[in-house]
Amino acid sequence: EGHFNKKKRFEGKQVLITAGPTYEKIDPVRFIGNHSSGKMGLALAHVFASEGAQVQLIAGPGNYLVTSEAITVTRVSSADDMFDAVSSRFDQADVSVFAAAVADYRPAAPAEEKIKKSGESMTIELVKNKDIAAEMGKRKVKNQINVGFALETEREEEYAQEKMAKKNFDMIVLNSLNDNGAGFSVDTNKITIFSVDQKPKLFPLKTKQVVAEDIVNCIYEKLQS
Ligand code: CTP
Ligand code: CA
Repeated sequence: EGHFNKKKRFEGKQVLITAGPTYEKIDPVRFIGNHSSGKMGLALAHVFASEGAQVQLIAGPGNYLVTSEAITVTRVSSADDMFDAVSSRFDQADVSVFAAAVADYRPAAPAEEKIKKSGESMTIELVKNKDIAAEMGKRKVKNQINVGFALETEREEEYAQEKMAKKNFDMIVLNSLNDNGAGFSVDTNKITIFSVDQKPKLFPLKTKQVVAEDIVNCIYEKLQS
């Protein structure tokens, strides 16, 4: 106890993190979702908390085992709910990390009753969800840092750089699918970190816990500059 007390680099800092999937309601018993586990966002929350930060974790559906009193969890379901939860907390955040896999579209008119099976095919009309990261990017003021994630299957670097510019991110973390084991529902990730004012940093395949530490180190460097 106490022997390895290193300096807590995020003491006094507020960190907001989005994590997990969103569920977009089709009817009372069905939804559109995705395979995001929320593990990356949760790992980031714990690293920030261990560094002294006060963390607001805005989490989509999933099983999150939060073991730190410095982490406040707000559970949400849809992208709209996530937007509201983020929007009301964003201005207090020194650092915001958008790690959620937000659905791009939602059913235009969710049914009040369970939809009955009928014809040989069916169509559900979808409408675009608000882009949480992009909207917070517009609201960001000096000294606030916004960090995004990207997962691409082609032209990775180009698309990641484009997203960073479009959403006014200070940094974007690109998840690579190129190695076995990187991506959703696994415990490892291979990442590249792009930054507005630095050359890309490539990291080897690591556990999400260690990846989270790499990301937090980069954010700390950014905060210092
Ligand atoms: N994001 C968000 N709100 C959305 C969509 C995305 O906050 N409605 C955030 C994600 O959390 C991530 C970043 O934006 O940090 C990039 O997400 P991604 O799905 O890769 O970007 P999109 O702009 O939705 O582009 P794409 O067409 O590639 O899905
Ligand atoms: Ca998307």
